[in-house]
Amino acid sequence: MVADRTRRVEISGIRRMFESAPPNSINLGLGEPDFDPPREVVEALCHSVQNGGNHYGPSAGLSALRERIATRYAGRDPKTVRENVIVTASGSEALMTVALTLYDPGDEVLVPNPGFVLYGPHARLAGAVPVPYPLIERRKFQPDLDALEHLVTPKTRAIVVNSPSNPTGSMFPESTVEKIVEFADRHHLTIVSDEVYEEIVYDGKFSSFWGRNDRTIIVNSFSKTFAVTGWRLGFLVASKPLAVELNKIHYHIMACPPTPAQVAILAGFEAGDAATRAMVREFRGRRTLVDRLLKSMPGVRVVPPAGAFYVFPKLDWGETATDSAHALLKRGVITTPGDAFGSLGAGHLRLSFAASREKLRTGLEIVREYAEQRGAA
Ligand SMILES: Cc1ncc(COP(=O)(O)O)c(C=O)c1O
Repeated sequence: MVADRTRRVEISGIRRMFESAPPNSINLGLGEPDFDPPREVVEALCHSVQNGGNHYGPSAGLSALRERIATRYAGRDPKTVRENVIVTASGSEALMTVALTLYDPGDEVLVPNPGFVLYGPHARLAGAVPVPYPLIERRKFQPDLDALEHLVTPKTRAIVVNSPSNPTGSMFPESTVEKIVEFADRHHLTIVSDEVYEEIVYDGKFSSFWGRNDRTIIVNSFSKTFAVTGWRLGFLVASKPLAVELNKIHYHIMACPPTPAQVAILAGFEAGDAATRAMVREFRGRRTLVDRLLKSMPGVRVVPPAGAFYVFPKLDWGETATDSAHALLKRGVITTPGDAFGSLGAGHLRLSFAASREKLRTGLEIVREYAEQRGAA
């Protein structure tokens, strides 16, 4: 009844966990900030829809917003201009647009394992073959360049990178970014850099992949920084010739990104980043809390996340992390088993600290009770 490609992908494991949760569960499975968007942004959205902003706009996005994004990226490469930017209907759409624009059937695409749930399926939907590269706990979830070298074949077309990472929270230092660029250049690979968590950073300095060569595509989103996951607005930054090609596919998927949301985000840029900074401050405090609570539990090892709002503990409870996640679900805490993000996520749980401190304390107390019970078993 459906095409082959449809059979080759599944609904994400994360969604399935939500659907079987008991009522009033504490949700530590969330992939979105538990904050409201900045007031200026909400007001600008309302103003836009009440004042005629309800129409199609340009395919690549409103000129003023593209310009604003370009100005931000010009700090990384002074040559960046509006034509390098395409506003998309979310980071997810941006990733799909990249996959359909770049990959031919049979191409191989290096994707992080564990990594965000869309990279592999998008490659498959484009007819390509995702080739997972390892990010292991022992290396603090940093890529191993030697392992990458071994995975390259004449069919390798691109490497997808994600720093700060969902699900591990790890972030590449500048030296790793440089090494990956050198690796990609040597093998003529396109770098697809998903930087949606670039502003949610606790330790160290974020290094963007932009401005290092002309074959890198940046995927970004307003979902997390402005706490507007439901609005569906993101963007791509690429060389001008690549941007022209990306815009063709983007047009055929989406026609154009939502107009009122673009007007609102533009107002958010004008208002400054105080709201984002306040949100990140709160996340930082929660990260410390979660790290301390998890480290005091039996059979739990944690690499403190440098960015994003996830922690990815390794469990040693004598059962699979999927069994642990189901046991915790029955006790009223939603978590995500690590293998939802690839085979090397097995044995890990992803916990999101985009939940209030009170919820984190209560939820993690349930996790502690379970950990102690498993330790005693
Ligand atoms: C690493 C990463 N990339 C992209 C996205 C997509 O974000 P959105 O489609 O909301 O812009 C997410 C969302 O969770 C993510 O975690």
